[in-house]
Amino acid sequence: GVNISSLLKQTGLVTLDPGFMNTASTTSAITYIDGDKGILRYRGYPIDQLAKDSTFLEVAYLLIYGELPDTETLEAVTRRIKRHTILHEDFKAFFTAFPANGHPMAILQSGISALATYYQHTLDPKDHYQVELATVLLMAKVPTMIASIAKRATGLPLLYPDASKSYIEDFIRMTFGLPYQRHDIDPAIVKALDMLLILHADHEQNCSTSTVRMVGSAHANIYASVAAGVGALSGPLHGGANEAVLEMLSRIQSGGDTVEQFMTKVKNKEDGVRLMGFGHRVYKNYDPRAAIVKEAAHDVLQRLGKNDELLDIAMGLEEIALHDEYFIERKLYPNVDFYTGLIYKAMGFPTQMFTPLFALGRLPGWIAQYREMIEDPTTKIGRPRQVYTGSPERQYVAIDQR
Ligand code: ACO
Repeated sequence: GVNISSLLKQTGLVTLDPGFMNTASTTSAITYIDGDKGILRYRGYPIDQLAKDSTFLEVAYLLIYGELPDTETLEAVTRRIKRHTILHEDFKAFFTAFPANGHPMAILQSGISALATYYQHTLDPKDHYQVELATVLLMAKVPTMIASIAKRATGLPLLYPDASKSYIEDFIRMTFGLPYQRHDIDPAIVKALDMLLILHADHEQNCSTSTVRMVGSAHANIYASVAAGVGALSGPLHGGANEAVLEMLSRIQSGGDTVEQFMTKVKNKEDGVRLMGFGHRVYKNYDPRAAIVKEAAHDVLQRLGKNDELLDIAMGLEEIALHDEYFIERKLYPNVDFYTGLIYKAMGFPTQMFTPLFALGRLPGWIAQYREMIEDPTTKIGRPRQVYTGSPERQYVAIDQR
């Protein structure tokens, strides 16, 4: 075949494609999306089947190693992860070094990059054994870190991991539990969170994943690369949207605008206001994850006996959008983030913890994509070109003559 990059090099031709609207940055065998048909598959498996029948750790294994594990393999991997869930004791001081109301995403990003200082024997991207160990350490320690960040914000004592609990159950326990109180965690909540994490686990070359690959392409270690992904995810146009959706719904509820008034503002692009949780670069029909989350939102709220007015507001917004020219023309539908926040809220997570939950879900995807990038012999350092639009050459003028 034609080697496009060497052809471009020879001709000096540069393509300009802001936001990578049409430019693939890589080949990948991990996740398949058909945006027009609303299809999402991990390693060939349809997302709805995985969401219904699989577990987060099983899906993580699938994404990272390419195949579904058998029982024995999954048990071995789970045991290995569980052996590493504890954080270095010095991390206690790390969490308290930040203002208690600092955003959890900022602390999480710092915490993940700090792992590189504790596990210096796992930093070489070209050493398969080291990457393998780093994979386990990240999967093991990030939930403990997120739970500790949540706990620290409340001022309550941090809890140590408990290897006898399941991965998700222990995460919920560390986030909400108290050391002197036994908590029976509702299995329906464990199942719902497991499912939400599966839905977030990978989404091919989205902004944060592309960031992880880009940073990793310089052979930066996996912690530095994943931490950069967390930074990208925090933006409200990306993972931060789940938090922004809830703020938007709350503002409408607290009487600023009616649903109709708010939608008019969105359509008139007043103050750049957008309907958060709507629209997607790739899905132009519907986001298959959103359909699953919407159903789960009803189930979980009902199960927890919570009647959240915000769910009615959200459905009202979707209903208007469904029949409105502005949204139809631009193919704007709810994305995965539109209803997730309502479930997280019903589960008791504070709004600021929503995006860290997305990060936990996306973690196996980032790891899988980092590893695929490192193992691919055609990978080159990510280094886009530009089209210069600045001043032509001019002569320096001494400061007293300007
Ligand atoms: N509300 C109102 N209008 C919107 C929205 C929205 N949520 N999203 C896009 N539009 C409009 C734009 O104003 C633009 O209109 P125009 O043609 O009149 O200028 C048109 O639709 C196309 O929008 P773009 O910004 O060009 O689409 P792009 O693919 O670049 O952006 C994005 C996708 C960032 C997701 C965008 O839809 C958005 O900002 N949505 C809200 C934030 C959000 O929910 N992000 C989560 C994304 S999914 C995820 O990360 C899990």
